[in-house]
Amino acid sequence: MLSREDNALVTRVGPDAPLGRLMRRYWLPALLSDEIAEPDGPPVRVRLLGESLVAFRDTGGRVGLIEEFCAHRRVSLFLGRNEDSGLRCVYHGWKYDVDGRCVDMPTEPPETDFRSRIRLAAYPTVELGGVVWAYLGDGEAPAEPRFEWTGLRPDQRVVTRTWQECNWLQALEGGIDSAHASALHTTLTPDTKRAGLSGMWTVPVPLRDEVEVTDYGHVYASIRPMAGGRKWVKVYHWVMPCHTFFPFELGGDGETLQPIVNGHMFVPMDDRNTMVYNWIGKYGEAPLGRGEREILEWSRGRAPGEVGAGHRKLRNRDVDWLIDREVQKTETYSGIDGINNQDHAVQESMGPIVDRTKENLGTTDAAVIATRRILLGRLKAAAPDGDPPGVAPTYYGVRAIERVVDEDVDWRTALKDLYLRPAEG
Ligand code: FES
Ligand SMILES: [Fe+2]
Repeated sequence: MLSREDNALVTRVGPDAPLGRLMRRYWLPALLSDEIAEPDGPPVRVRLLGESLVAFRDTGGRVGLIEEFCAHRRVSLFLGRNEDSGLRCVYHGWKYDVDGRCVDMPTEPPETDFRSRIRLAAYPTVELGGVVWAYLGDGEAPAEPRFEWTGLRPDQRVVTRTWQECNWLQALEGGIDSAHASALHTTLTPDTKRAGLSGMWTVPVPLRDEVEVTDYGHVYASIRPMAGGRKWVKVYHWVMPCHTFFPFELGGDGETLQPIVNGHMFVPMDDRNTMVYNWIGKYGEAPLGRGEREILEWSRGRAPGEVGAGHRKLRNRDVDWLIDREVQKTETYSGIDGINNQDHAVQESMGPIVDRTKENLGTTDAAVIATRRILLGRLKAAAPDGDPPGVAPTYYGVRAIERVVDEDVDWRTALKDLYLRPAEG
């Protein structure tokens, strides 16, 4: 439970809000590289931290991320012509380069210097892991966002994105809450494939979550009892502000280790909307197999067109997430197809910004509580020291892992070399 004031602090992302200012200290995903794959190809709208932007790749291959609206009379540059090293407004032809400079103004006489005084906001970008990352802050950008998955070859990873219609924190908290998999994502019959991932998702409710604060956010273990004095330890990470890593190493038999890493990024579009990036990767030498690639597709649900224009889901609030009550009785716990759809449905059902003054948190909410504590601690500090967690590249070596170990093994020491590997820089 949070006070009304604290709930506002951890949810508001505009440029004048404390969280909005904090978010602007990080590289954040803006879109996928392949959405603007071609030089001079169509521009793409980007909504990020309450700002409306447009992304394009110019003739020379450089990425521009600039204000969406033309400085003349505010027409959207989404309609623009991407031509000859700039984006030209279709209303009267003003043209902007990737730095937001107005480089042509056909409506004015050639001798005027009006053009040189016109500039749209433009943000630096970097491309890593198939994602275009943007830095919306002041001053120099921090170290580039390098994760294990961003360093994988393109044939070893897949990244998708989906618009979630609620505040970023309730989406992130869904990614951090490990206990819900035992209910929300459960299939009722062992042979059903309706939810995409059966078997391993039908698991006992956690005995406990154990959280360790780190210099990038936190690492936590969800520990579930097993027969014969053993326990199943699933180790997750949260890297400030929006990155979650969850383990997917144990195969369907619960024993075979597979070299799979995956996670999400919950990126605030504005106070009431979030762009969720979903990624999966395979470390080692082999490429991702077809079945492994399909894990991401399964998680979205498998009806054609699950995600439509603007990355909006077919299963959205307007249609009650297409919940099937018969399936809910007989096949899956939720009656909603697709792991991610199930997550989005419960989180969107809370309303655009959940009222945290009315919650009652319990034993399995330890990681959620720790997340809020870390965020609030930073947001309330009168003069916070140095960079916030997750800016310095101490997170480069994180990996989510899972192992079955003896009950008396301490995961923090026994598994540390696996979940926090030496960073490769
Ligand atoms: S509104 Fe863009 S050139 Fe006039
Ligand atoms: Fe989930």
